[in-house]
Parts: sequence; C-alpha cells; structure tokens
Amino acid sequence: MNLVLMGLPGAGKGTQAERIVEKYGIPHISTGDMFRAAMKEGTELGLKAKSFMDEGALVPDEVTIGIVRERLSKPDCQGGFLLDGFPRTVAQAEALESILEDLGKKIDYVINVDVDKDILMARLTGRRICKSCGATYHLVFNPPAVEGKCDRCGGELYQRADDNEETVQNRLDVNLKQTEPLLDFYRQKGYLKDINGQQEIHTVFEDIDELLKGLNK
Ligand code: AP5
Repeated sequence: MNLVLMGLPGAGKGTQAERIVEKYGIPHISTGDMFRAAMKEGTELGLKAKSFMDEGALVPDEVTIGIVRERLSKPDCQGGFLLDGFPRTVAQAEALESILEDLGKKIDYVINVDVDKDILMARLTGRRICKSCGATYHLVFNPPAVEGKCDRCGGELYQRADDNEETVQNRLDVNLKQTEPLLDFYRQKGYLKDINGQQEIHTVFEDIDELLKGLNK
C-alpha cells in the first residue's frame, strides 16, 4: 500500500494519517514532522528548514527530496508507506516517480483531502497538538475531554509556531499556487482520488477506508 496524502494546510492530512497508519500499519512519512524533529534536535537539516518554515515558505526542493529518498529506502517502507505533505511541487512529484522507480515501487493512490480554502484559517489557528504523542486536536472542532490535556496519553497540548494568522496566510498562499499543477500531474497519471474533507473527521476516514479496502482485496 503506497500512498500519498495531499491537501492544503489544515485540510486534515495529519488527522487522517493518524487513523490510516493505526489501521493499516504502514509508516507515516510527514516531511513537516521530519523538519520539526530536526529543528528540535538542532541538526543541520533543522537549521536549513527553520527560516523557511518560520515564514510559511516551502523548504527548497533539493533538501526535501533528499530526506524523502533516504526515508523511503529504509526497510520499514518495504510493505508500503503513507507520504503526508510530500510532494508539494511538480518537481518533487517528478523526483518521487524516479525514487520509486529506483526502488521498484509504484504509487497506488494519491488521496486529495479537498477542503474549501476559506475554512482553513480557523482550523489551523485553533489546532492544538500533544507534546508527547503528537495527536491532533482542535479547540472547537475536535476538543480534548480535559482542556490542555491529550485524551490518549494525558500529555500537554501546544500550538505549532507556524499556526499564527500571518504565517498561516503565507502557507495558504504558497500552497494554493502549487496545488493545481500537482493535482493535474496526478490526475493525468490516474492516481488521484478526491475525498471530501469538509465532513466530520470520522466520515472523512470512512471514505478513505472504503477506498483502501479495495486495495487490500
Ligand atoms: P506540514 O507540517 O506538512 O504542514 P501543512 O501542510 O501546512 O499541513 P498541516 O500539518 O498544517 O495541516 P494538516 O492537513 O495535517 O491538518 P490537520 O490534520 O493537523 O508542513 C509545515 C511546513 O514544513 C511547510 O509550511 C513547509 O515550510 C515545510 N514543508 C513540509 N513539507 C514540505 C515539502 N514537501 N516541500 C517543502 N516544504 C515542506 O488538521 C488541522 C486542524 O483541523 C486540526 O486542529 C484538526 O483537529 C482539525 N480538523 C481536521 N480535520 C477536520 C474535519 N474534518 N473537520 C473539522 N476539523 C478538522
């Protein structure tokens, strides 16, 4: 099961990825998470990514493609993978085709979580994430049972540094420009599956799950 999860910032990629990897047991490869981990550890990659992420800009393709190539070559990706937030440009999509060809693999589906751009600001500025396990919540749309605490592990919830209004606006502008050509790229290849991301979280997952059950037959 080789999957790509696409969608504008806040569309619900991370939220659905949590559910997909839990059910199907494939590794979750989020370039955003990888950059944030590198920033936290203060590695060279983290230093390179920080200035771009702080502004809501894309990290340069050569940096991003390199880390994905390395990650997809690891043994845990033999049985499949879920890419989240990569590719984000046509150049990255072309590079992914060549990486997968080298590894003798092929994408099964590119799942596009489709959400109207006008609701994304509210989703992102209200998002909270667990410091310990990474589970995602929303102050209004998906609140934890106890304010500030993770339902799963009791960890403390925090707000991502790039979830302030100004940076979110930049992220949306940057991603809106890249999205159409990328969707066209995958539409032409026949991989693209659109999922309505404007339903309840569990309904979005049911639609994705229905699609994935077909792959497991
Ligand atoms: P990344 O970490 O990938 O962030 P993003 O694409 O901006 O996406 P998000 O993680 O913000 O949103 P999401 O779609 O996962 O939404 P979520 O499920 O949390 O990238 C961050 C940065 O890293 C980029 O800006 C860039 O600088 C760099 N980067 C990463 N990849 C790169 C690449 N390939 N190339 C270059 N640079 C790269 O949901 C959002 C909120 O909505 C949550 O609060 C959630 O609870 C709520 N929610 C989710 N679903 C629903 C629903 N159905 N109804 C109501 N609320 C919902």
